[in-house]
Amino acid sequence: MVIIIVGGQWGDEGKGKVIDYLSEQAHLVIRPQGGNNAGHTVITEHGEFKFQLLPSGILYPQVTCVIGNGVVVDPRVVLKEIEQLRERGLEPHNLVISERAHMVMSYHPIFDRLEEGVRGDDRLGTTWRGVGPAYGDKVRRIGFRIGDLQKEVFMRKKIDFVVGQVKNPILDKLYGEPQLDTEAILQEYLGYARELDPYIKDTFPLIQSALDRSDNVLLEGAQATMLDLDFGTYPYVTGSNPTAGGACTGSGIPPTRVDLTLGCLKAYTTRVGYGPFPTELEGAIGDQIRERGHEFGTVTGRARRVGWFDACVARYAVRVNGAASIALLKLDILDELDRIKVCSSYEFRGETHRHPMANISHLKHCEPQYVEVPGWEADIGSARRWEDLPRACRDYIELIESEVGAPVDLIGVGPRRDQFVERRNPWTRAKAA
Ligand code: GDP
Ligand code: IMO
Ligand code: MG
Repeated sequence: MVIIIVGGQWGDEGKGKVIDYLSEQAHLVIRPQGGNNAGHTVITEHGEFKFQLLPSGILYPQVTCVIGNGVVVDPRVVLKEIEQLRERGLEPHNLVISERAHMVMSYHPIFDRLEEGVRGDDRLGTTWRGVGPAYGDKVRRIGFRIGDLQKEVFMRKKIDFVVGQVKNPILDKLYGEPQLDTEAILQEYLGYARELDPYIKDTFPLIQSALDRSDNVLLEGAQATMLDLDFGTYPYVTGSNPTAGGACTGSGIPPTRVDLTLGCLKAYTTRVGYGPFPTELEGAIGDQIRERGHEFGTVTGRARRVGWFDACVARYAVRVNGAASIALLKLDILDELDRIKVCSSYEFRGETHRHPMANISHLKHCEPQYVEVPGWEADIGSARRWEDLPRACRDYIELIESEVGAPVDLIGVGPRRDQFVERRNPWTRAKAA
């Protein structure tokens, strides 16, 4: 079985928790795209883990965890994450890094900041991790792949060209910044080559064998549909395709082998960084949800923008990804509200829209049309079965199902691994598909 996990909003829906939950029955977990702009939280009896590059299945020693070809890997960050696991007594024997994956080079975060700086008021609010510049270089054919670390002569020649001929002139002439030292970069990366060598492989045979055996494979999308380079609120997006199609190209799993796409949705909406957000709440209710939901960025610590559940966004995500199953997370965060709103459509210049418009200035100026429902005003943290949830809570879930057009199979009622109401197991649904 192959299941793709995607974010259906603007990220931080709780994808890490869902991956961890489903990993118990998985053989292989693959991160197909993104970089250390992602922060996926997993909470177990050993405490809290925040994974940026390591797949969230890494805590299960029997699960092979792959950093796929579509990821941009900062070697410093992956090594730090490995070290952090070791400090907690865990050895990632089960980690494999695709030799086709590109690297975030030490100069990419520098360019990320410089590019944001010159954008001024139009800045995107990136995570400054160099992810956009690394993907840009991949497309321009001046990127470094992880496999290049194993070829010293090639690395030297390429660094001389890319850094000496491309990056340094830009730093000097455009930004008036100091020059990068090509030899220092080479030596730094040869050091990473030695440390990462045991993990670097061609992942094609490994993934094909898993498919031949009909193993259970999870594709762990990072970011989310509304941050997709093509389907998100361009240019306020990330540098990759976090939608289901990107999961295939970022891993080498053929689309024909995918059994299920599971969309992760938060029971309300959050966004980090700039760009349109029709249901954004700026007053006391927004602050209340932000505090109760600890909505502060996993990677940058920034306060996340908070808003009501936007069914236009979720409906669009269900369609773009072909999601036949939904995990609805953080429902418990709404426990104390007496009234809850769901945006079911947008009004713009006298017309009704049921999906986000491609034109972001229209999206910015549209009027969300809300359905208002009563809250349940009860603690749902200990609910494990559908029947345990209060009536008004079940009504809210059923409203979301009918608005977005897909069934809610998993319901997150708290941050811990066991805090799920499972209505239908996604592996079972995948098998039946
Ligand atoms: P991801 O990027 O999609 O993996 O999500 P993040 O880890 O960035 O953010 C989700 C946050 O919500 C984390 O702090 C999780 O521990 C937490 N979380 C996930 N699911 C639930 C839930 O159902 N209830 C509550 N209260 N917290 C949750
Ligand atoms: P996970 O996987 C939320 C946002 C940034 C910024 C935009 C572009 O944890 O859900 P980038 O550094 O990617 O060039 O920034 O994308 N962003 C995320 N927001 N969750 C994420 O990942 C994100 N990854 C990038 O805040 O608005
Ligand atoms: Mg996150």
